[in-house]
Amino acid sequence: MFEMDIENICVIGAGIMGSGIAQLVAIHGFNVNLVDLNEEILNNSKNSIEKNLERFFVAKGKLSKEEALKILNRINLSNNLNDAIKNVQIVIEAVFEGMLLKQKLFSELDSICDKTVILASNTSSLSITSIASKSKTKDRIIGIHFFNPAPVMKLIELIKGKETSEQVVEIAKAFSEALGKTVVLVNDSPGFVASRLIYVMCNEAIKMKKEGIASTKDIDTACKLAFNFPMGPLELSDLVGLDIYYHIGQYLSKEFGEKYNPSSLIKEMVNNNLLGRKTKKGFYDY
Ligand code: NAI
Repeated sequence: MFEMDIENICVIGAGIMGSGIAQLVAIHGFNVNLVDLNEEILNNSKNSIEKNLERFFVAKGKLSKEEALKILNRINLSNNLNDAIKNVQIVIEAVFEGMLLKQKLFSELDSICDKTVILASNTSSLSITSIASKSKTKDRIIGIHFFNPAPVMKLIELIKGKETSEQVVEIAKAFSEALGKTVVLVNDSPGFVASRLIYVMCNEAIKMKKEGIASTKDIDTACKLAFNFPMGPLELSDLVGLDIYYHIGQYLSKEFGEKYNPSSLIKEMVNNNLLGRKTKKGFYDY
């Protein structure tokens, strides 16, 4: 049986998504153990969370300085996975988008976490059933797909793997709603709903950029004004990260066929470390 009362969470990966998820859950009163490979990454993550709390909450009068400090103090940094999973009820994985890495990590988590702990992946495209395939207790493995920036975006896609139990889905849904999110339930399929749709649109816009059909800014403006989108597809690609789209594209084309192949421009940009906001250069400079 899984525990319905969630107090403590472990978030693995302190990059864009892990930092955002840690901030979000701490704001909602949960204690978080945030794990990454080294102290430098962890300290950068905590500094960025501190800056975000100051800029978007304290400066706007939504939180006092004392409240922001309490939130920050709920986030513990660790580069030791065995310590970080002690006394937690949910683990949320947000490491790089790679199947082998995630399979290995979930198999390790499965062997070191108490059987009552729910194991969730924030993968944006990879099959939850495959991620769980190397683990023994597969019923507790689920996809909880947050969107970027996690503290702001309203949606969570819950992905039910082939063997995910109904009880785990129910607990994950209640937990997501306690974070103020709207939940959609998706059966396990590559790219789920949102990533498959947005990848196809952004990949097409990137192909247009490569073909010289319009400038970066004009492609984005056309999309914003024609469809009333808050962001253009190239701006959005920079926010998500070109590396993430490259992985999604490779994975979708393997699963669904070559019409999903990532544009050659995505590959070029990844090879040149032009990943978007995370490297301060992509379609735009930051
Ligand atoms: P990122 O590259 O910003 O961060 C990944 C972090 O994981 C890095 O700090 C890295 O050091 C750490 N890491 C790698 N292996 C690790 C291990 N074994 N143990 C602990 N930490 C480890 O990546 P980002 O963008 O945060 O993406 C993370 C996951 O979230 C991916 O699966 C991605 O598909 C998914 N996602 C990304 C979104 C986005 O807009 N960037 C949106 C929704 C989901």
